[in-house]
Amino acid sequence: MGKIKNMSGRERGIPSIDADLCTACGLCARVCPTSTIMMSGDKPCITGDGGFGCIACGQCVAVCAEGATRVTGRGMSPEDGFVLPPASERSTAKGLEALLESRRSMRQYKDQPLTHETIDRLLTMASTAPMGFPPSDVGVIVINGKERVQEFAEDLCQEFKKWLFFASPIGSLVMRGVMDKATRDMMKDLVLPITIEILEARKKGQDFLFYHAPCVIVFYDPMKDTVDPSIAGSFATIAAESLGLGSCMIGTVAPALKGSRELRAKWGIPDGQHPSIAMTLGYGAVSYKRGIRRRFASVRYI
Ligand SMILES: Cc1cc2nc3c(=O)[nH]c(=O)nc-3n(C[C@H](O)[C@H](O)[C@H](O)COP(=O)(O)O)c2cc1C
Repeated sequence: MGKIKNMSGRERGIPSIDADLCTACGLCARVCPTSTIMMSGDKPCITGDGGFGCIACGQCVAVCAEGATRVTGRGMSPEDGFVLPPASERSTAKGLEALLESRRSMRQYKDQPLTHETIDRLLTMASTAPMGFPPSDVGVIVINGKERVQEFAEDLCQEFKKWLFFASPIGSLVMRGVMDKATRDMMKDLVLPITIEILEARKKGQDFLFYHAPCVIVFYDPMKDTVDPSIAGSFATIAAESLGLGSCMIGTVAPALKGSRELRAKWGIPDGQHPSIAMTLGYGAVSYKRGIRRRFASVRYI
């Protein structure tokens, strides 16, 4: 049987309710955001194929104390609903606050490799991030090992060199023809100065791209410019902090990969997928002793 699709052409989840376990409390219908489960009389029932359909968010599974609801499809299986850790094992607001305040972008790494177990644990934590299209369309490439990371850095730098054309007078004219003003300004004020600095440093054996990290992770997504990979990356940086690891988001990887199909193929980004945020990962070589008070540019209650 073919996969059932919703209006946007995405595979649907297929929810089911075990009538023997169901107490008809109605919570699954109450939390279902797409009305795929609705009350019919005093019983929850799965509605037909119309509308958006099940997005496999798992709300009905998470809310059911009896374990009566299941979702399959869109990468979910019945085993994906599990009993939560007891409240005593969960972080308190104070604990989380302390963790968040302690995290800094790390740009100095120890020459200490990372095990697959550690990276897998971090990714398991990061995969809890809320996604626009659950469970997750985000793909992850792990480049583990200092030498592999340097090979990746070298490949990206070769791509950066092509951008230097845009710093020339002719390149500046070409930019006018092919880029809108916002992109041109970003290229001129941010991307070009950063890449020139990275290339100059590389000549002296310095790595201003990945900071000699032992591991780099790239997040990608089938949709262009979605925030899902960035959210996954944000969760990954918090997970890193909780595991005693340093991390730093790296924004220049995606544009370089986007510019070269050959590079995407070499570094495992499947055709039709869009590279997004990358992050360095490793044991930090410095420890931060003080927090830095951060504020949003503005907060208004209106
Ligand atoms: C989208 C994004 C792209 C970033 N790109 C880079 C980068 O290419 N190189 C780098 O050193 N830091 C990069 N950073 C890290 C920021 O510089 C860092 O988050 C900022 O300095 C705040 O520091 P903190 O994380 O210690 O609070 C990036 C961060 C984000 C969110």
